[in-house]
Amino acid sequence: LVGAGPGSFDLITLRGLNALRSADVILFDALVEPDFLDHIKPEAIVHDVGKRKGANGKSQEDINVLILEMALKHGHVVRLKGGDPFVFGRGMEEWQHLAQFGIEVEYIPGVSSCISVPGLAGIPVTHRGSSESFWVITGTTRDGSLSPDVRLAAQTKATVVILMGVSKLSEIVEIFKANGHHDLPVAIIQNGSLPFSKCVVGTVKNIKDKTSKIGIESPAVIVLGSVVKQYSEKQILTSIEKNAVQLNGYE
Ligand SMILES: C[S@@+](CC[C@H](N)C(=O)[O-])C[C@H]1O[C@@H](n2cnc3c(N)ncnc32)[C@H](O)[C@@H]1O
Repeated sequence: LVGAGPGSFDLITLRGLNALRSADVILFDALVEPDFLDHIKPEAIVHDVGKRKGANGKSQEDINVLILEMALKHGHVVRLKGGDPFVFGRGMEEWQHLAQFGIEVEYIPGVSSCISVPGLAGIPVTHRGSSESFWVITGTTRDGSLSPDVRLAAQTKATVVILMGVSKLSEIVEIFKANGHHDLPVAIIQNGSLPFSKCVVGTVKNIKDKTSKIGIESPAVIVLGSVVKQYSEKQILTSIEKNAVQLNGYE
């Protein structure tokens, strides 16, 4: 069970890379870039099990069955997942399924998008004197609704990082406004760590308009909190340039 990191292949861990190099079978998700194919055994079997926009991938149940089948038939299977397998990645569900059949599982952590995507855009999730904690929340729960935790987080001074939340931006903005946070800085970063990354920075008041002008799509991370303005625009731009992110001004 290997975390691939947020996108750019060189953000996988050394342990993850070693597992990939020796794998007999690799099953990968939609958020995993195909560069890993250059690092596997030529005879390795590769299954793309990702769900993408407009195309249905395999169901979780089918994936569980496929991993089990591959493990029994071929031995060393790498289940390669975007970010970290245990951060909204259903990693433990897969582990538990395999454990029932006596399959040995090793977890290899990945660099999660919740910290690294803001970081690569020059935004630290904590900063002394500015943010003492951060919440990582899903914008989309099992039944498709926004997590009620967003309401709780909006009552704190914590940095709030929302994954899978782009389609819920209006709801999120209303919750933060209802808590008096009209001027709270917000950043939304799409495809962090990748050459086609985009970033829009604003405040709770104007982020919706800015986002619709620029057209941000999933996968994207929403960061709300004073940490967004800790770095001057110049610093953000330098960081952005290095990481090939397109910045659309903080005001
Ligand atoms: C199913 S969750 C998986 C999260 C993953 N396990 C992790 O630790 O990053 C998918 C969500 O992660 C976020 N995400 C993952 N990679 C991203 C990236 N490179 N840039 C922006 N957001 C990303 C998006 O919010 C996306 O909708």
